[in-house]
Amino acid sequence: MAVNKLEDLKERRATIISGGGEKRIAKQHANGKLTARERLDLLFDEGTFVELDAYVKHRCTNFGMEKVDAPAEGVVTGYGKVDGRIVYAYSQDFTVVGGSLGEMHAAKICKVLDNALKVGAPVVGLNDSGGARIQEAVDALSGYGKIFYKNTLASGVIPQITAIMGPCAGGAVYSPALTDFIFMVDQTSQMFITGPQVIKTVTGEEVSAEALGGAMTHNTVSGVAQFIGNNDEACIAEIRRLLSFLPSNNMETAPVYDCDHDVNELAEALNDIMPDNANKPYDMFDIIKTIVDNGDYMEYQPYFAKNIITAFARIDGQTVGIIANQPKVLAGCLDVNASDKSARFIRTCDAFNIPLLNIIDVPGFLPGTQQEYGGIIRHGAKMLYAYSEATVPKVSLIVRKAYGGSYLAMCSKDLGADLVLAWPTAEIAVMGPQGAANIIFRNEIKESDDPKATRERVIKAYTDEFATPYKAAERGFVDDVIEPAATRPRLADAFDMLASKREARPAKKHGNIPL
Ligand code: HXC
Repeated sequence: MAVNKLEDLKERRATIISGGGEKRIAKQHANGKLTARERLDLLFDEGTFVELDAYVKHRCTNFGMEKVDAPAEGVVTGYGKVDGRIVYAYSQDFTVVGGSLGEMHAAKICKVLDNALKVGAPVVGLNDSGGARIQEAVDALSGYGKIFYKNTLASGVIPQITAIMGPCAGGAVYSPALTDFIFMVDQTSQMFITGPQVIKTVTGEEVSAEALGGAMTHNTVSGVAQFIGNNDEACIAEIRRLLSFLPSNNMETAPVYDCDHDVNELAEALNDIMPDNANKPYDMFDIIKTIVDNGDYMEYQPYFAKNIITAFARIDGQTVGIIANQPKVLAGCLDVNASDKSARFIRTCDAFNIPLLNIIDVPGFLPGTQQEYGGIIRHGAKMLYAYSEATVPKVSLIVRKAYGGSYLAMCSKDLGADLVLAWPTAEIAVMGPQGAANIIFRNEIKESDDPKATRERVIKAYTDEFATPYKAAERGFVDDVIEPAATRPRLADAFDMLASKREARPAKKHGNIPL
């Protein structure tokens, strides 16, 4: 090859790699952000990233754009390996026209989605963009539309993970929202449909960009994001960790890791974990840690609806998705947000062949006008729907309360639980003893000479009769009542037994989950 052709190639590559130039890169760093390429270096196993479409150029000639050279079109795309498995990625380059999205920038992202879908590989999107490239007008909007469409086609086929690592405003938020997981970086990322300026003009409200759409807002208040990273490095490390729990696509199962934690280990502490007083809270994580390999789990939405825990973990090296009530928060009641959080998690696990472990200590749905007006009927129905629809192995472990509708909503036998185990401390009934006494023994208490003593007596009778796992076990709704210490071995055995589960559903275009 002629030397000058090689030199030309090298020069072109150097220009592309320099992105928006030294000054803008320095500004990016000064703002606490890494560049698009630095982020990809952290995401992929060393030396495995293969860039595609580096030479793509925009075709815009509006407002002087014909003179604007936009290296890599403001988005670096390609594939590489994460823990040895192929992953596709795009990383928006804020140093190039603010990472703004025009026709060709969008085409690059669409190609990533198309290719990933073809080979069945996850897609990671690292977003850092001023939004629709203003000069490109409707071509930019069309670009977003095409991405939304492809995100939707890929949904449930390949895992799609988005990290918000800078601004993400207007309609640009909807591609992340269509993906399976959203990470945000604390203090340096914001997502909103309309920014502080527009809000002030339209409604008069004054709010900072961080309070409106920062990482903590979306992790705690809105529930839009599922994960938060303290900085770019931490965020990307967590994305790699999340990928380790997921299969590459819906035809595969998650990778199995060598397990150096004995699955037959008994956890004697579990025999004493339940407080004598059934209304006393305890920390559900203390149970989870003894069950999963090496006590290690990755929480999904750890800051949102803390009354329910959703987490990925492994048992005997195999990924499971855990849904567990947290008695420490709102007594573990189900509410609107807990229903949304768990329903989404259940569907994510089911889509990607991740077995479900439900750990149940639930007194009921949270009462109140706020919940009823907020549509708890509609939201709670999502949980019922998600559990009923899920065909992955479903194992339920009832450790204490399992009352009324919430007993069903946490995946009872009737919603298709393949195996229901209960601790001797389980209480499975229509409602708790106090509430039941007020209704079915109301007259007996009222008419007695000593209402207080009568009340105590009937509560005890009800408790002895119903606040146990045995009534349910008599009917076969509980498959076995187990010693708490043996929970890990029993669950490992259950998931091993269910590994070959196959369950068909009636053919349909798609179901109609209540939204
Ligand atoms: C073209 C853009 C741009 C955009 C930023 N730039 N956003 N160019 N289109 N949308 C350019 C800037 O001109 C600047 O170029 C460079 O990127 C860096 O921007 P700065 O403003 O200097 O950076 P900063 O101060 O950090 O502010 C970042 C910002 C601000 C908050 C994102 O740039 C901004 O408000 N941009 C516009 C955001 C916006 O309204 N986007 C449209 C949203 S609506 P130079 O050459 O000076 O470096 C939308 C609709 C999508 O996206 C609909 C889909 C359905």
